[in-house]
Amino acid sequence: MSGFHALVPAAGFGARMGQELPKQYLPIAGKPMIAHALDTLCACPDIATVFVVLSPGDTQFRTYDWSRYGEKLQPLFCGGATRAESVANGLLASELDADDWVLVHDAARPCLTRAHLARLIAELRDDAVGGILAVPVADTLKRADARQRIEHTEPREGLWQAQTPQMFRAGLLAEALARGRNVTDEASAVEALGFQPKLVEGDSSNFKVTYPQDVVLAELLLKQKLPDNHAVSQPFC
Ligand code: CTP
Ligand code: MG
Repeated sequence: MSGFHALVPAAGFGARMGQELPKQYLPIAGKPMIAHALDTLCACPDIATVFVVLSPGDTQFRTYDWSRYGEKLQPLFCGGATRAESVANGLLASELDADDWVLVHDAARPCLTRAHLARLIAELRDDAVGGILAVPVADTLKRADARQRIEHTEPREGLWQAQTPQMFRAGLLAEALARGRNVTDEASAVEALGFQPKLVEGDSSNFKVTYPQDVVLAELLLKQKLPDNHAVSQPFC
């Protein structure tokens, strides 16, 4: 029987964050950023394994105590030069069956809630293609010209912002990424094969921590939901 597994690309360096420590390890609400997403994924009873794709030269991951996740957490030191490459390498190393579901989730989205994760799985577990968490675009969108003047206003109807997790069968995703690695998310690679992944509505709290100001916001949100997500946490050293 096919199972559910998570794969967390965490082999980036966080250039836009401008810190020496790669951003997935920056402390947020008492633990390294990546630990928040791992808490949520490991707590999900449907998910059998959580693979973390790290840079081959990563020396930071092993400095923390991950023992509370037991065998469920599997580090893979096979990250690539781009996110898509890291995901493709991780998929290969994970040796999942083609039919297994894989939920790819950014290490840099620490505010994923258990409720949104459960909804994604519930809405897609019988789907033929798979899909992603996403939110309808809320702001008015402007198209700029070369001088950064507004050329026109884009209608935002039907536009969604893609988030993660992105959930696909391991075989389909591996094939999609093998054909085109010049993509910024898994769904784009699957779309390029002619499929139409489903959009499962989440909310904006599952944003990607990219710039220093995002750390402040993530910390506020995570401290607020401590009772839900962190009751069983041990201190990190
Ligand atoms: N990622 C990865 N391998 C890469 C690049 C990125 O596994 N070669 C991961 C990051 O660690 C992160 C996720 O993909 O968890 C989303 O990428 P992004 O937010 O762009 O992170 P970075 O690439 O580290 O940041 P930046 O683009 O600012 O350098
Ligand atoms: Mg990047």
